[in-house]
Amino acid sequence: MKLAIGSDHVGFELKKVIIEYLAELGYDVADFGPDSDKRTDYPLYGQKVAQAVAAGDFDLGILICGTGVGISISANKVKGIRAVVCSEPYSAKLSREHNNTNILAFGSRVVGSELAKMIVKEWLAAEFEGGRHAKRVEMIKAIEEKTNEEG
Ligand code: RB5
Repeated sequence: MKLAIGSDHVGFELKKVIIEYLAELGYDVADFGPDSDKRTDYPLYGQKVAQAVAAGDFDLGILICGTGVGISISANKVKGIRAVVCSEPYSAKLSREHNNTNILAFGSRVVGSELAKMIVKEWLAAEFEGGRHAKRVEMIKAIEEKTNEEG
């Protein structure tokens, strides 16, 4: 599985921890930046990772900012992206199983590194269940299509 990861300056340190953890778990992970904790803007990295996942170059993406909120909102503006912001593993797991999320976001000011690892592990291990959930995800896609048409 190919993973894309990005953050802003606030999420930079936690991103390093998560990249190391993903490598330990055996995942192939590409870092979309930033490469320092110099002040930057989360939409830049939310967009980069989201576009890479939406293009099919990566299976899933992980985004980290202070809260996970701004960077997940940014990612969700890219067509085909279903980004979830989570601060506990239960929602992370269910977001894959029911909502087929393709980006996980969390906040370095909200979760500690051990909880973040647990969230990441549960999210990556979970699989979309399809069935009744597929219809609902299709309904989400229909909203996206309709909104884009209307402009
Ligand atoms: C940066 O100060 C902060 O706003 C950002 O990391 C994030 O929390 C935004 O949602």
